[in-house]
Amino acid sequence: MTAEPASLTTPSLTRDQQRALYRRALRTLPGGTNSNFRAWGESTVYVDRGKGGSIWDIDGNEFIDLRMGYGPVILGHGDDRVDDYVNERMRKGVSFSLTSEDEVRAMELVKELNPWVGKARMTVSGTEATMHAMRIARAYTGRDKIVKFEGQYHGVHDYALISVAPDNMADLGDEDNPVGLAWGRGIPGEVAKTIVPARYNNIDALRRLFERQGSEIAAIIVEPVLGNAQGIMPKPGFHQAVRALTEEFGILLIFDEVKTGFRFAKGGAAEFFGIRPDIATYAKAMGNGYPAAAFAGTDEVMSVLPDKVSHGGTYAGNRVAAAAAVKTLTIIKETNALETIHETGRRLQAGLRSVLDPKGLPYVFTGHPCMFGIMFTDTDPSEYRDWANTDHELYDAIAVGMHARGAMPEPDSREPWFLCEAHAAGDTIDRVISIFSDSLDAALDARAKGQSIETPHVGFGAGDGSH
Ligand SMILES: Cc1ncc(COP(=O)(O)O)c(C=O)c1O
Repeated sequence: MTAEPASLTTPSLTRDQQRALYRRALRTLPGGTNSNFRAWGESTVYVDRGKGGSIWDIDGNEFIDLRMGYGPVILGHGDDRVDDYVNERMRKGVSFSLTSEDEVRAMELVKELNPWVGKARMTVSGTEATMHAMRIARAYTGRDKIVKFEGQYHGVHDYALISVAPDNMADLGDEDNPVGLAWGRGIPGEVAKTIVPARYNNIDALRRLFERQGSEIAAIIVEPVLGNAQGIMPKPGFHQAVRALTEEFGILLIFDEVKTGFRFAKGGAAEFFGIRPDIATYAKAMGNGYPAAAFAGTDEVMSVLPDKVSHGGTYAGNRVAAAAAVKTLTIIKETNALETIHETGRRLQAGLRSVLDPKGLPYVFTGHPCMFGIMFTDTDPSEYRDWANTDHELYDAIAVGMHARGAMPEPDSREPWFLCEAHAAGDTIDRVISIFSDSLDAALDARAKGQSIETPHVGFGAGDGSH
């Protein structure tokens, strides 16, 4: 019998320490983690450290990180420029529930990078940012309903957890009459009823919805790309058409830029697609991984603050987050970090193409080179429901193989790969391409032999979806 070529043999990683910590963590943390999205059962990763574009788990395994914490780490892990500044500032004290100059500067930078913004306020998470954005829209318009697109993720407050990410598309209801599907229990029915699901990239259906219910709708909240389905892009002109429709019906447009902000362009997806929203939410790339977030809007819409709408938070604008935002946004503003990231993404895609094209498999890259996915399909996906018709089992098998070989994309095929500035260094991109190539070969070989590759159980709990 001939031996398998080395590339087809899936290496097994040492995971003794992680298995032990998983057992220990299970006694205290549900699922062994602090977020459902990190609970991967026996494959749950316990991290030791990160530097640049790489991370090390507590067993000492090194991975090129393609998750970058679901996007925030835009420059690289442990970026000395940001960390030194944060360290220097935090020694002056971190929480006063008073306002520091860093907070003012951070919001000035948000304005400078997004010239349409009139006023902005900090929050600690993207979840809080979208929650407040919705409240501002309701207060400003005096209407209660918010439209959101199926498959879009806006965080974990009750108003955001509707029609997010079921595995079974039938749960989303009829294509012409989508239902509001609560993700998990505990969301009051009356709250859920204020969120109206719509289909991304379907402007005719949106017009019909606005014609039926427009007078009750305060805002539509839009992830400019479908980040929860590998960053599916809008059809040409879609955002312009949405903007025009909202103006026609007096409905506010909220751009949820938590993933795209300070990543797609210095002015985020609003700049990239040439849209002027009424409100936007920012988080991830704003603080290079520190918990900095914000909501922002035109002067007119934000005028409901501070007198007419509640917003606060003990940690809102805390020194660590504010300092991280000041330094990170200054780097994004004054250097060519984003150009480097975009070029690195294009280089990676070119390498992946050279691996994929000779195989004759149908595939498309979704998203933007700085945040993209690979979908195995011969039709261009345009909405969340289309993910179900892709060969995501093949993708999942490749992702598992990549983990074993030292690169870590999300094990769920709905999450895009995220690039950071540090990925440009050394041979990182060549290594990702070679790891992808070996993992693809192994996945196809296993499929040809009828073997199934075990993918991690991703423990999202509610039984009706994943992130
Ligand atoms: C588009 C979008 N909005 C909101 C959120 C929620 O942000 P956070 O996890 O900081 O609460 C996320 C997080 O992934 C996101 O991608």
